[in-house]
Amino acid sequence: MLCRVGQIRRCAASLSQTLNQVAASRQKHTLPDLTYDYGALEPHINAEIMQLHHSKHHATYVNNLNVTEEKYKEALAKGDVTAQVALQPALKFNGGGHINHTIFWTNLSPNGGGEPQGELMEAIKRDFGSFQKMKEKMSAATVAVQGSGWGWLGYEKESGRLRIAACANQDPLQGSTGLIPLLGIDVWEHAYYLQYKNVRPDYVKAIWNVISWENVSERLQTAKK
Ligand SMILES: [Fe+2]
Repeated sequence: MLCRVGQIRRCAASLSQTLNQVAASRQKHTLPDLTYDYGALEPHINAEIMQLHHSKHHATYVNNLNVTEEKYKEALAKGDVTAQVALQPALKFNGGGHINHTIFWTNLSPNGGGEPQGELMEAIKRDFGSFQKMKEKMSAATVAVQGSGWGWLGYEKESGRLRIAACANQDPLQGSTGLIPLLGIDVWEHAYYLQYKNVRPDYVKAIWNVISWENVSERLQTAKK
């Protein structure tokens, strides 16, 4: 009997260790791969920008998010509310940076550009009058971001309508406004300065040539569920 109890204890300890390892590995965020080469969006966004933006900037948000979450877990375990509150800006900044860029890479495609089709196009016409008007409104809101931030096309679940919004820094759209992100334009200088210098409007004008409307449509379908 004692032998069986010992076995059960060892088994439980081993299971607990395995679960902890699984939990730890699940909680680590990783840099997502791009489905296209760094140079694939040229001439609209050059390879140097893409390489630095993905492998350095986005990677830094991922690393810092993992570090922040570790510290947050420790603060939670200790019941240290002051430390938890102090970590929230870092969580918002690095978590937002990871969320935003993960969406951004999929919003872009070397086969992008043109116009959306089907339900997305119908929703754009209903909510903005025309595709052209939506582009103009989103471009204006995005160019007008003061300092660093993002322009967004989002879905408002309550009304079933598309909305345009701008967010400062890395504030994530859904966490900040409730809108579900469909299309984001990164207007941090790291996204365009090496190619467009200080002329943000030229970058915003060019990016429409590499927008994957297929991805935006898929996001709308998911958002409506
Ligand atoms: Fe960025």
